[in-house]
Amino acid sequence: MQRKPNLAVVGATGLVGGTFLKILAERDFPYENLYLMASAKSAGSKIDFRGRTHIVEELTEHSFDKPIDIALFSAGGGTSEKFAPIAAAKGTAVVDNSSAWRADPQVPLVVPEVNPREIAKHKGIIANPNCSTIQAMVALKPLYDRYGIKRIVYSTYQSVSGSGLKGIRDLEEGLKGKDLKLAYPHAIAGNCLPHIDSFLDNGYTKEEMKMINETRKILGDDRIAITATTVRVPVLYSHSESINAELEKPFDLSELRSLLAASPGIVVIDDPSKNEYPLARDAAGRDEVFIGRIRRDFSVENGLNLWVVADNIRKGAATNAVQIAEKLLEIL
Ligand SMILES: NC(=O)c1ccc[n+]([C@@H]2O[C@H](COP(=O)([O-])OP(=O)(O)OC[C@H]3O[C@@H](n4cnc5c(N)ncnc54)[C@H](OP(=O)(O)O)[C@@H]3O)[C@@H](O)[C@H]2O)c1
Repeated sequence: MQRKPNLAVVGATGLVGGTFLKILAERDFPYENLYLMASAKSAGSKIDFRGRTHIVEELTEHSFDKPIDIALFSAGGGTSEKFAPIAAAKGTAVVDNSSAWRADPQVPLVVPEVNPREIAKHKGIIANPNCSTIQAMVALKPLYDRYGIKRIVYSTYQSVSGSGLKGIRDLEEGLKGKDLKLAYPHAIAGNCLPHIDSFLDNGYTKEEMKMINETRKILGDDRIAITATTVRVPVLYSHSESINAELEKPFDLSELRSLLAASPGIVVIDDPSKNEYPLARDAAGRDEVFIGRIRRDFSVENGLNLWVVADNIRKGAATNAVQIAEKLLEIL
């Protein structure tokens, strides 16, 4: 793009929206005008950003009447469902963080380290995958390309920040003995809840089916057998995942470890003799995906176990979306 783009952040007062702003500043993302939008509740509130005070505006049908090149949406599925097509129809490229458009075959679902070429196929909306899927994809794509993948078993340990500001309040107040249950049906302090998003008729939660379906869409392979159990744990930031994979081809473990270490966006931390493995607190505030406990699963042929940790608000949401926006700048 020759000129600097006009940019909108929808859901600017939220946890992901605030992180969008932080990351736009960190990466020195160029823009001419920046519009911050949220619900009527926050309209008129002020956000200081890069030396300027911005007034938050209410998102309405007319918000995109002004020329906006790129809009980063993180204001919930219903908001995206309604307003992303309105923005797209006015010529805005929407990078959407909600689950509203991810399954739509017309909408690219993108992790820039994995399938960046999909971005150019967009028809106005590009979907950011689910936070737990993004970090799994960064870890599995190099293995998929080199060895092929037959089956995946995901078991996640997801932080409360994945439920936005309400999840954080539930844990912080819960630790003081007050169970608010703003985001969860049970106390989260001192508990692990095998329940993220709502339950479906097949017994899985929506979060589990998102991981399954999004993995297949991003890798472009419907043959992979996948199952998932997603669990909310009393951790503030970063999702941890046990990924068990059955690869198609035999592998040499040290070669596989080197392949992961050399792949984009990955840091391998794997020295059990020194108690070194990825930890949620260390990953918080970072943009990379951390992988450790790399070992064979002896129970099946070509079986592999990984422990994969990443900051769900950064790489799992805002960083991934800003990386997509950076690629958009190259093609707009
Ligand atoms: N947290 C994560 O790890 C994560 C990861 C990936 C994706 N996401 C997705 O990102 C979105 C936001 O998550 P969050 O964690 O940032 O939630 P949050 O902290 O609760 O923030 C929600 C934001 O959406 C705005 N909003 C709500 N209803 C709106 C409406 N009708 N019109 C315009 N703005 C509206 C809110 O504005 P007000 O201040 O005016 O209410 C606020 O800015 C969700 O779709 C979520 O699924 C979250």
